Amino acid sequence: MASKTRVFHSLILGLVVLSLIFYSVYNTSEPIQFNSSVYYIKQRDERSNTSSSVFKPISSAIVGPTEKLNNITNNSVSSSSAVDKAAVEPSSADKAVQELVDKAASEPVDKAPPEVVDKVVQELPRPAQVVQVIPPRKANSDGGKNLAKGVLTSRLYDAGHDIPNIELCPDLGASLQFLVLIMSAPTHAEARMAIRQTWGHYAQRKDIGMSFVLGRAKTPELTSSIQSESDLYGDIIGSRFMDSYDNLTLKTTSMMEWVDSYCPKVKFILKTDDDMFINIPKLISFVEARSKFKRTIFGRLAKKWRPIRKVSSKYYVSTQQYAPPVFPDFTTGPAYLLTGDIVHELYVKALNMTYLKLEDVFTTGVVAQAIKVKRVHANEFLNKRIAFSMCNLKKSISIHMVKYHEQFDLWKKLLDGRQKCG
Ligand SMILES: *[C@@H]1O[C@H](CO)[C@@H](O)[C@H](O)[C@H]1NC(C)=O
Ligand SMILES: *[C@@H]1O[C@H](CO)[C@@H](O)[C@H](O)[C@H]1NC(C)=O
Ligand SMILES: *[C@@H]1O[C@H](CO)[C@@H](O)[C@H](O)[C@H]1NC(C)=O
Ligand SMILES: *[C@@H]1O[C@H](CO)[C@@H](O)[C@H](O)[C@H]1NC(C)=O
Ligand SMILES: *[C@@H]1O[C@H](CO)[C@@H](O)[C@H](O)[C@H]1NC(C)=O
Ligand SMILES: *[C@@H]1O[C@H](CO)[C@@H](O)[C@H](O)[C@H]1NC(C)=O
Repeated sequence: MASKTRVFHSLILGLVVLSLIFYSVYNTSEPIQFNSSVYYIKQRDERSNTSSSVFKPISSAIVGPTEKLNNITNNSVSSSSAVDKAAVEPSSADKAVQELVDKAASEPVDKAPPEVVDKVVQELPRPAQVVQVIPPRKANSDGGKNLAKGVLTSRLYDAGHDIPNIELCPDLGASLQFLVLIMSAPTHAEARMAIRQTWGHYAQRKDIGMSFVLGRAKTPELTSSIQSESDLYGDIIGSRFMDSYDNLTLKTTSMMEWVDSYCPKVKFILKTDDDMFINIPKLISFVEARSKFKRTIFGRLAKKWRPIRKVSSKYYVSTQQYAPPVFPDFTTGPAYLLTGDIVHELYVKALNMTYLKLEDVFTTGVVAQAIKVKRVHANEFLNKRIAFSMCNLKKSISIHMVKYHEQFDLWKKLLDGRQKCG
């Protein structure tokens, strides 16, 4: 009797398994996947009310959000942009540079002697070898030499986004405490993955938005892998310029355009990079304490830095690009927080100013000054590499020069809050 029951049970089990297999083979257009990535995207979709359909590129000049939204909704066929142009990706800084940066970033904020500038500016990633043949369409298509003559940013910038992913910002941002926009390069898939698996988890909160901002990739293969990554995670914003060091300022401009178009009601925006560790709980309390602030950029303030006039320098700034001997105070690029109310003006003004590839100087210095935005120093923005101790972590919002495999270590230390700090 018992064995009969067992046989019967096995038969039922077998049938169930068979029908499951049959179902998965014949009834789903997408393969069934049981890995954590898929779990992640499901979580996202549950929190967002919009469908996860792929949004199409829009060919637009500078237009208002509503018009864009209409066109996106109506567009049917995506025309992936030309990718036969090659460009350069920023490479991660080597050890020597890192030491310089550590040293330089620990200089006092209120005065930087001219010789420091050369070192500190190296905090920006260095471009790899240039291997490119680019049609002379844009004013900086010669790799940037032309820029020294002074070119309006609007002449370099193509408005719109190849990958808008507008569902990243529900209700135009009204329900978000803040948006974290992480500047990333197409080749940095590992850095993005490490962030998603560590501090990027806060994207699951309904009141926090997060996304990676990428320029165009230099090969069709990379372009399609970015598209797949976007389809899978829905957290990529694709801009319309070749991703390169000289184009970093275009990336920030594109970020501003995206927020202006799709997230204009967000209260704060953190602009950061994919080699950063961000202490989100600390950022939450930081913005909560500053909810009344208007027209402000918070970060690590760099005061009285001078443009480098040496033509051979990678950081050369001609007088046509910027005439005064000293830059306006600016917040350093690895991480800064802006109030949402200034994004539209920053974007519009940036387009009508002479392009500088030093994105932090340009955006948070020159442009911010022109529209009278306050820049406020906050010690929590370390923007440099520090010893990864839990107490250091707890004090800071942003730590720079974190390799993707180090994100896990930092994340674990932040979560494991047993140790008491003085
Ligand atoms: C999860 O599945 C996707 C799609 O098949 C794949 O690209 C990705 O590498 C997988 N991730 C893991 C962690 O297995
Ligand atoms: C989704 O959107 C519909 C229509 O806009 C709305 O009625 C509904 O309440 C929304 N659901 C959620 C969970 O936000
Ligand atoms: C929207 O689409 C119309 C018709 O296709 C086009 O004329 C217009 O320029 C588009 N506007 C934007 C902002 O893309
Ligand atoms: C898109 O659809 C909306 C609503 O149906 C309509 O008002 C708008 O004119 C359309 N836009 C274009 C470019 O066709
Ligand atoms: C920057 O982007 C523009 C526009 O896509 C492109 O023409 C130019 O070649 C890029 N610059 C570099 C150095 O790749
Ligand atoms: C751009 O700036 C110039 C002055 O620098 C001003 O005359 C012009 O109106 C501005 N254009 C726009 C579109 O804001």
